[in-house]
Amino acid sequence: MLEKIESTRNNFEEDLKKVTNLETLEELRLKYLSRKGIVTQIIDSLKDVPKEDKPKVGKAINELKKFTFSTYEELKEKFEKEHTKAESSIDLTLPGRTKEIGSKHIITQTLDEIKNIFKGLGFSVYEGPELESDYNNFEALNFPDDHPARDMQDTFFITDKFLLRTHTSPVQVRLMQSKKPPLRAIMPGKVFRNEAVSAKSFCLFHQVEGLYVDTDVTFAELKGTLVAFVKQFFGQDVKYRFRPSFFPFTEPSAEMDIWWEPKGKEGRWMEILGCGMVDPNVLKNVGIDPEKYVGYAFGMGIERTAMRKYGIDDIRILFDNDKRFLRQF
Ligand code: DAH
Repeated sequence: MLEKIESTRNNFEEDLKKVTNLETLEELRLKYLSRKGIVTQIIDSLKDVPKEDKPKVGKAINELKKFTFSTYEELKEKFEKEHTKAESSIDLTLPGRTKEIGSKHIITQTLDEIKNIFKGLGFSVYEGPELESDYNNFEALNFPDDHPARDMQDTFFITDKFLLRTHTSPVQVRLMQSKKPPLRAIMPGKVFRNEAVSAKSFCLFHQVEGLYVDTDVTFAELKGTLVAFVKQFFGQDVKYRFRPSFFPFTEPSAEMDIWWEPKGKEGRWMEILGCGMVDPNVLKNVGIDPEKYVGYAFGMGIERTAMRKYGIDDIRILFDNDKRFLRQF
């Protein structure tokens, strides 16, 4: 009997190591202290012990009983306290912690807005790669071999024949090569220029190209489309003008200015885009019959347009990723 008491105590102590919370403590109680538990059975068996052994065995049983029950009570109290502490540490009256939610960069927002306006005017969206061939970026667009834009000063050449596109106009070439007219699309994307970085220019910026090719496209339609665009983008009362200009890939060519009056400063005309009728040479280069088809094209810089709209005067801040600036939009 004494042996049994001893081994029960040892087992109990062994099982105690596995008790880590109220649940495991309850398992321990069921095993030893419940009505059918091992300790309870030992206590019950005292009545069968021969009279002469009773004082000794009774004492041992008593000790076992005291030890197991008090250990159980102690642990129970401890776990219950912890439990209520954990519960009460949640203060339901505190305001919730809000997660910081990111927002679209002002350039992405501007691009989205421009895309939506042109989608409303019947244009689809088409994209091309940032790494371009010299052919698509210059040659197909009727740039003469000695054109200054081909200069290393302006263009990031990767190899003799490949470069980082300097404008989105090569996407026109890709579109006309891959699809048959009628074509009406805008082509947004990043462009790269090897220029000195300043408040006004950065080595990377975004453009949106536009192209419409069909059998009866007119310059008047080009003007109408661009006027509809600036009115939606800058507001109905925007003041604008077209000036004759030159681009190798359009003939005739023009530039569009809008009147800009920054708060507290003198107003002036600011160029926002180049445009014109697609040069017949370009159509020929992409295999479209210039006797049958005509087209107009335009291209605008996004940073400048966004800067104008939001009154930003240094382009570099658009690429700094300074959250204090970005949060404002
Ligand atoms: N590609 C010209 C540039 O980067 C912009 C441009 C002008 C695009 C006239 C056109 C256009 O499609 O017709 O400055």
